[in-house]
Amino acid sequence: MGFCKFVSVILSFTTLFSLPTSINSLSSAELAEIPTNLLNHAQKPELAKWIVDIRRKIHEYPELGFEEFETSKLIREELDKMGIDYKYPIAVTGVIGYVGSGERPFVALRADMDALPMQEMVEWDHKSKIPGKMHACGPDAHVAMLLGAAKILQDHRQKLKGTVALIFQPAEEGAGGSKRMIEAGALHNINSIFALHVTASVRAGSVSSRPGPILAGCGIFEAVISGKGGHAAITQHTIDPILAASNIILSLQHIVSREADPLDSQVVTVTKFHGGEAFNVIPDTVTIGGTFRALSKKRLVKLMHRIKEVIIAQASVNRCNATIDFFTDDSLYPVTYNNEVLHQHFINVGGDMLGAEKVQDMKPIMGSEDFSFFSNLIPGHFFFLGMNNESLGKFETAHSPYFTFNEDVLPYGATLHASLANRYLLEFEALSHLLEKNFHDELYNYSM
Ligand SMILES: *[C@@H]1O[C@H](CO)[C@@H](O)[C@H](O)[C@H]1NC(C)=O
Ligand SMILES: *[C@@H]1O[C@H](CO)[C@@H](O)[C@H](O)[C@H]1NC(C)=O
Ligand SMILES: [Zn+2]
Repeated sequence: MGFCKFVSVILSFTTLFSLPTSINSLSSAELAEIPTNLLNHAQKPELAKWIVDIRRKIHEYPELGFEEFETSKLIREELDKMGIDYKYPIAVTGVIGYVGSGERPFVALRADMDALPMQEMVEWDHKSKIPGKMHACGPDAHVAMLLGAAKILQDHRQKLKGTVALIFQPAEEGAGGSKRMIEAGALHNINSIFALHVTASVRAGSVSSRPGPILAGCGIFEAVISGKGGHAAITQHTIDPILAASNIILSLQHIVSREADPLDSQVVTVTKFHGGEAFNVIPDTVTIGGTFRALSKKRLVKLMHRIKEVIIAQASVNRCNATIDFFTDDSLYPVTYNNEVLHQHFINVGGDMLGAEKVQDMKPIMGSEDFSFFSNLIPGHFFFLGMNNESLGKFETAHSPYFTFNEDVLPYGATLHASLANRYLLEFEALSHLLEKNFHDELYNYSM
């Protein structure tokens, strides 16, 4: 009796602790070798050069949001050559390739495709050939690395225990391409999604991320302040909207500096102030606009309400009227929230590939990403791929006309994509068990 009880306790402990490795046929040592094997594959000169060439081609012909026709065509041609099936068009120029068994589970990898409306100032062989357009934060590299991952995965497709969806997304830079892709059914059947972004803040060969909020939720506003125009020197007959708007802008600064918890990052920035034409005329109206950010949905919505209250009340103090537009249908971006289970998966896979010390923790960034629309609906994970290398000189920050990219890291990005997906499918049973418990609780605070 006593003995039986003892045995059953041992048995249940064994089952409990061996669960993650025993449910699939590979041992943990075999799983740990996958990322290094794939990296060796990606660093073969032929494959590495192929990824570099694709990145350069895309860099030379940057296209803005929802106009990525040539980029999309290049992607489809490469997928065709690899024999990978895809859906097209999804949200105008979007493409989704499918590698693997075609059966569940499905894991998605996402790359953004659109450039910025700015002139490249870097003189090099593959400088942008389109005046006033530039890939200045990495979508050219993101697409090249996802195609690299496609090739690696396709070369190992027999070993995939499910399907990898390769999401090439239009219009990340403000036009909400991810939202349009979701409306077109991009996430149908997808269990989890990963994405990466290049950064000069982390060294080449390292990656960084964090569990929980990693990028801010974001909104924009525009307000028209109406007064009564007239002679600049006969002020008693006018109601001055320039002075009113100035007071409004000062009062908006107090929302974050006096109402927010100093340890809870939030931003209200006025970036537009338009009004007046002449030296001696007070105008009828002034238009101001800007952005606000927070790391939770609750605080983002609170900022929105307070911005509205402050603008209307301050306008009224100055005898003006105000109307405000938050463009909420398109422009409210959720917080980019990293699922904790997927973050642990990222640490495991990144550690196996690069070494545990190369997988760094980071603080959240108040920038935003429309990847958040994906990770709001299904468990998602976003991480940064380091590219800094002192011996190659200084790398400018994203959105600088002098932005350059370290092509040495392309095989790392391609392999991380491929390994995260491959291992996700292999470890799906254990992961999905944990994800089920964790996903809906955590979204409560962050989703829109
Ligand atoms: C940094 O650049 C040098 C010179 O090209 C190279 O030898 C080295 O491997 C690079 N380091 C990393 C981590 O990529
Ligand atoms: C503000 O709106 C009120 C109500 O519509 C109107 O009577 C008033 O003239 C407006 N004031 C200005 C300065 O536009
Ligand atoms: Zn950007």
